[in-house]
Amino acid sequence: MTMTSSEIRQSFLDFFKSKGHEIVASSPVVIPTDKTLLFANAGMNQFKEIFLGARKSEWKRVADTQKCIRVSGKHNDLEEVGRDTYHHTLFEMLGNWSFGDYYKREAISWAWELLTKVWGLDKRRLWATVYRTDDEAAELWASVTDIDPTHILRFGEKENFWEMGETGPCGPCSEIHYDCTPDGNATAAMVNAGTSDVIEIWNLVFMQHNRKSDGSLDDLPAKCVDTGMGFERVTAILQGKHSNYDTDVFMPLISAVAALAGRPYAPEKAPEDAVAMRVIADHLRTLSFAIADGVMPSNDGRGYVLRRLLRRAARFGRSLGLTKPFLCDLFPTLEAQMAPIFPELTARRAEILRALKAEEESFGVTLDRGIALFNEVVARIEAAGGKTFPGDEAFKLYDTYGFPVDLTVLMAEEKGLKLDAPAFERFMAEQKDRARAARKTNAAAENDIVSAFVEQGLKTSFVGYTTLVADTQVLAILADGAPVDSISASAEAAVLLAETPFYSESGGQVGDTGILENAATGLRFDVADTQRPALGIVLHKGRLAAGTLRRGDLLTARVDADRRAAIRRHHTATHLLNAALKQVLGTDSIKQAGSYVSPERLRFDFTWFEAIPADKLRAIERLVTRFICENHPVKTYEMPFRDIPGSGIVAVFDEKYGDVVRVVDCDGVSRELCGGTHVSATGDIGPFRIVAETSVAAGVRRIEAMTGLAACDHTADEHEILSTLSSSLSITPAEVPARVAALQETVRKLEKDLKAAAEKAALEKGAALAANFADVAGVPVLVESAGELAAEPLRALADSLFASHPAGATFLAGTDGGKVTLILKLGPDALARGLHAGKLIGPVAKLVGGGGGGKPAQAQAGGKDATQLAAALQAARTAISAALQG
Ligand code: ALA
Repeated sequence: MTMTSSEIRQSFLDFFKSKGHEIVASSPVVIPTDKTLLFANAGMNQFKEIFLGARKSEWKRVADTQKCIRVSGKHNDLEEVGRDTYHHTLFEMLGNWSFGDYYKREAISWAWELLTKVWGLDKRRLWATVYRTDDEAAELWASVTDIDPTHILRFGEKENFWEMGETGPCGPCSEIHYDCTPDGNATAAMVNAGTSDVIEIWNLVFMQHNRKSDGSLDDLPAKCVDTGMGFERVTAILQGKHSNYDTDVFMPLISAVAALAGRPYAPEKAPEDAVAMRVIADHLRTLSFAIADGVMPSNDGRGYVLRRLLRRAARFGRSLGLTKPFLCDLFPTLEAQMAPIFPELTARRAEILRALKAEEESFGVTLDRGIALFNEVVARIEAAGGKTFPGDEAFKLYDTYGFPVDLTVLMAEEKGLKLDAPAFERFMAEQKDRARAARKTNAAAENDIVSAFVEQGLKTSFVGYTTLVADTQVLAILADGAPVDSISASAEAAVLLAETPFYSESGGQVGDTGILENAATGLRFDVADTQRPALGIVLHKGRLAAGTLRRGDLLTARVDADRRAAIRRHHTATHLLNAALKQVLGTDSIKQAGSYVSPERLRFDFTWFEAIPADKLRAIERLVTRFICENHPVKTYEMPFRDIPGSGIVAVFDEKYGDVVRVVDCDGVSRELCGGTHVSATGDIGPFRIVAETSVAAGVRRIEAMTGLAACDHTADEHEILSTLSSSLSITPAEVPARVAALQETVRKLEKDLKAAAEKAALEKGAALAANFADVAGVPVLVESAGELAAEPLRALADSLFASHPAGATFLAGTDGGKVTLILKLGPDALARGLHAGKLIGPVAKLVGGGGGGKPAQAQAGGKDATQLAAALQAARTAISAALQG
């Protein structure tokens, strides 16, 4: 009886359990102990330290199934996945290990026992390979198993010496291959020949060396065994399927895709659809498992791999007519199937669904824009009879529309075009150079100056937490990018002071503005911004309004107090917002992804996957307002950074902190590490209004809000708009929404009626055109414009006019706004005289700024320039007459 895939997995684990193995869990797809590995790619990854002797294992024998992701490398080009029958981006590797316990003999005889006795595979179909010099393994195959001795083959390093990577544990290995030919008559030459007729199913690695970075080999402290069996392949064999995709590992997913798309999975009849379904099934697995293990689609590293997979799946989805996000609809099928063995799929269901949906939606927008541009480019190339998709266009798609180049390649191939890859690479390289050069010049100038200041021992001390006015001295003046001794009025400069109350831009809070002045000498420097390019170097940037400013001058620095007060209100409000968000959305897992605090508004970016509904936003606004009304005192204090973890104090992920950190504490309502300036009690913030909630990137939302006087002004403005509306409609403000909706409905209906009436009139008028058929060399010909008529009714009119003279030529034009539609239909007499609708219509369409084509008997084209319609019709008449009379 055929085993299900779950039974096959279980019987592997049970078998090794019976041989004294501890069954352990798969590691996550990102190996926590090995950050250098993009994804887990072999069962042994999580045991690397044990092989090397750096960690002791609790058990000497273990077995498991490991989730592996292989998205690159010579045998797993992403573009191939789904096209053949046995490569996947995610697969399970069944494995058994010995840490300094059993070695080759047991590994080989147990593998044989499981395959032939427990699973009953046909011995004649099994082949074993061993490393060129591994006499011991070859000898064991011959003695401890009853394999056909002619099925024991030797291979070199490439096939039979397994290494984890450039460095790390390695050793000779012995692989087991299965003969999938119909009659089981594969030959030795077919083993390791890269065909799907004979495939590798199990690799037994005899770990005994450590490859060092200089390429040399050390001996491991103990000899170990590391095996890996391709679960999906073995399942296909045991279930008698030719393709892994035909097993019960993939079929439930493929059927779900087919059902969604409303098309059958028919690899023979509809091979392209079948490829798309396989790709989607494969990629959904990888995406779901990776997201479950904490990887999110993003723009670099692992996240980028996911983003590419998702985009590839989405793109194939479109080829099946799935234009809305669909991966999230498939996930339940995967969960039902896999959660019993991988419960993380259920535990992280919400995150997976959110991430899939958000990422698909954002890609949908990109894709639509990219496809439109792509089609325009292709139309141009085809018109010119070209075969190459230009590199600059592919680059533009990538650079301006975020359109991944692998998709451009794929779509170009579908149109029979080849990407000019070298040109594309050139554009990419140029762009990288440009970016690098720009970074260099800006950074170099600033670095030079700042390092000179630091070398001279210049340093500003910041006193602006407690005062907004300070008497201080000018340490240095920078004008035109170089240090100077003095400047005179109206010069732009950056001034370095010994002591300053000015807060320099950092942690999202904008830099202070204000003045530097000396009333006695009439000096006044307007500070427009404050920056701190290095620790202790505070630059006051602005313009000298009056007097002469010299290095060494004594002056008074005054921060714009109103502006600073507004900034303080927005900054403390940002902390309250962060706290309120977590409470209202009911999770602490929200992470700050950026913030901007100015006197006019605050902006807070955070990780979240979907738009925050209006009622939640209102609750957040209300909770922040409650915190404000409760007038909590705001305290700041310092503490050692090492005491932060576990304290509940919010720190921004990835921010670099010193040993001693500053805590801003709103009476326990919110506690955050922060260097910014804050109000002394939350009541100082005054009104708080959320003014926008938007998306900044997939998985990141942004809330913008206003406080204090800015919030008051904003509210007053909104109120004024509403009053104007309600008084002009002569209704109360509360009635406005319903009234506007009703008005919109009326407008929609009127527009529809108007259009229908215009169409009806045009059709009636159009029918009269039948009288205008003229005889041209014995063939009835009509070339006319039907006036303002959209494409759809125009086609109907063309059909009826053509039906009145079915042997001849009907050329009809219609305009819709400024757009033009052209239709040409030819009957047998016109065709017999050599007219070709598709060929004829192109040049005519060109005259109205468009293009198009079609078959000999019927063609349609569009254009953008209705002003040239008369000329175009004249050209059509001339062309048709010439052909008929010629
Ligand atoms: N570590 C071995 C492999 O991945 C078993 O093939």
